[in-house]
Amino acid sequence: MKQPLRKVVIPAAGLGTRFLPVTKAVPKEMLPIVDTPTIQLIVEEAVKAGAAQVVLVTGRGKSSIEDHFDRNFELEEALSRKNKMELLEQTRRIGEMVGLVSVRQKEPLGLGHAVLAAKRAVGDDWFGVMLGDDLIDSEEPAIGQIARVSMQTGKAAVALMPVADDQTHLYGVAAGKPQADGNLLVDRIVEKPSRGTAPSNLAVIGRYVLPPDIFPMLEKMKPGAGGEIQLTDALAVLAQQGRLVGVRFEGERHDAGDRLGYLQANVAYALKRPELRDGLLAYLRTAVQR
Ligand code: UTP
Repeated sequence: MKQPLRKVVIPAAGLGTRFLPVTKAVPKEMLPIVDTPTIQLIVEEAVKAGAAQVVLVTGRGKSSIEDHFDRNFELEEALSRKNKMELLEQTRRIGEMVGLVSVRQKEPLGLGHAVLAAKRAVGDDWFGVMLGDDLIDSEEPAIGQIARVSMQTGKAAVALMPVADDQTHLYGVAAGKPQADGNLLVDRIVEKPSRGTAPSNLAVIGRYVLPPDIFPMLEKMKPGAGGEIQLTDALAVLAQQGRLVGVRFEGERHDAGDRLGYLQANVAYALKRPELRDGLLAYLRTAVQR
């Protein structure tokens, strides 16, 4: 990437089957981390990294995501009447954080297919992708860390995190040549390798910076692992061309689309809130003794 990151795509059209029954009618991206929907934390990360435009990819049953980033005049008026000015300010700020457009993925045919739905909104620019259920709590916003490496190298970049050997089958897994700065020039990348076949233990986490020519690649992709159009298969093409770096980012990652990951994220974020910390710690101490 040559210019600083401006556009970010947030795919949020998946079915969230790991989180049924709540995801029957509520998008998993709207489930709260303490009191804030996961997707708002992700949009805030994009804004902190300097992104000016966010493209939300939503689907059937996901209109609450669009509503969340829209104005709610009735609520604003009620808060104003009750003189709850701080809450009013917070509510307004959500819709004013960033330029936001939403596009529809008509059917959840996979992450690659969701990114392709943003093609017209992205146009000819390099862009970031941030998965709508992947949280990374860090000093420097994670997507900013990935964008920085993409700017330095001129290559596409993905976030990488080491995982236990018995977890690699749950992720896209990358291997390649370690670089002096600790990052990886990726030469192989495989989606959900079956047990014992992973090329490394470096898992791809939901932050990417991609070139616009990823779109024609995705258009040609046939369904891969799980019958879905996989973003990983297009990344594999970039890797073969020597155009993909894996970035060992700083930060704590939570998979908020997974029940245990979601619970952990709530505890971690709540412990950082001064008004909740002591009460939660006291509760956890007694709860573990039961
Ligand atoms: P996941 O694989 O976690 O989403 O995709 P999923 O399919 O909804 O989850 P499970 O496995 O059924 O529980 C990561 C991100 O990509 C989006 C999801 O909304 C999530 O934020 N996604 C996935 C799409 O936008 N479209 C798709 O077709 C698939």
